[in-house]
Amino acid sequence: MKQTWKPGTLTAPLPPALISSGDMNTKNVMTAAWTGIICSEPVITYVSIRPSRYTHELISQNKEFVINIPTWKIAEAVDTVGVKSGRDYDKFALCGLTAEASTQVKAPQIAECPVSLECKVLEVRKFGTHDMFLAEVVAVNVDEAYIDENGALDLEKAGLLAYAHGFYYTLGRKIGKFGFSVEKKKQKTAPSVATQVKADKKFNKEKSAVKFKRAAKGSFMENGVEVIEVKDKKPRFAKSKAMSEEKAARKPERRFKSKEAGAKFAKKDNKTTDFKPVSYQKKADGSFRKKRVL
Ligand SMILES: Cc1cc2nc3c(=O)[nH]c(=O)nc-3n(C[C@H](O)[C@H](O)[C@H](O)COP(=O)(O)O)c2cc1C
Repeated sequence: MKQTWKPGTLTAPLPPALISSGDMNTKNVMTAAWTGIICSEPVITYVSIRPSRYTHELISQNKEFVINIPTWKIAEAVDTVGVKSGRDYDKFALCGLTAEASTQVKAPQIAECPVSLECKVLEVRKFGTHDMFLAEVVAVNVDEAYIDENGALDLEKAGLLAYAHGFYYTLGRKIGKFGFSVEKKKQKTAPSVATQVKADKKFNKEKSAVKFKRAAKGSFMENGVEVIEVKDKKPRFAKSKAMSEEKAARKPERRFKSKEAGAKFAKKDNKTTDFKPVSYQKKADGSFRKKRVL
């Protein structure tokens, strides 16, 4: 059951992106969660910034900025540059962030971020608390450490950060790629011989340990089923006389170790029984339980 709250900014997760602005001399960086992609061709992005931010001033002047995608390694810096103003601090120096020249804009990119998108402002939309800088992405800089031999970018190992409702998170495990839900399932490849041998050894070891334990209890294995002789002790459900008719009907297939045991039960309960060999597990209290197939 969901509660309905008043309108809020609760979309999550969001990137706690680092917005770098200014130039290599007058550089600044702030955290922004209100950022995203609007269009893929041309690549249009936005960042919504309060007019009170120093970043707002710099972007308004230069009409350029860089969106840097951070990782957990610089999570503290991400938070710090989001609570301190560039009017009071050189936040690059304060947080140990490295400003690197961008390729298409004057605003620096941040070396510690695996991805940096260089942006040129197209227009500014005023809404209320925040102004939205609509911008075109003119270049994307990607850390080579995450580019594989086929030239594909794999960010799983980068340790990207997410921001959700006031908290920072690291991303979890990769669980599928775009479209995986409708892709034809691949045939499972057979495990290697070495893996099979290892698995067989483990299985046999466990099996013999179980056999040994069970032999000690006076039981034996039959076609992968543990069998415990019922002998003259009645299986627990022989007490089913006390069961309601309805309950008894729910157990239509009663199996017994021997015809005799079944016949005894059938006579008592006035029921027909299926005389298939079966096994019971003896419990500590002397009662019996149907044995699971191993
Ligand atoms: C996780 C996080 C997300 C933030 N998102 C935004 C945002 O989207 N827009 C904004 O104007 N301020 C945002 N802020 C606040 C600014 O980053 C903060 O006011 C910063 O000190 C501004 O720095 P500046 O004055 O140097 O530009 C965010 C802060 C944090 C910690």
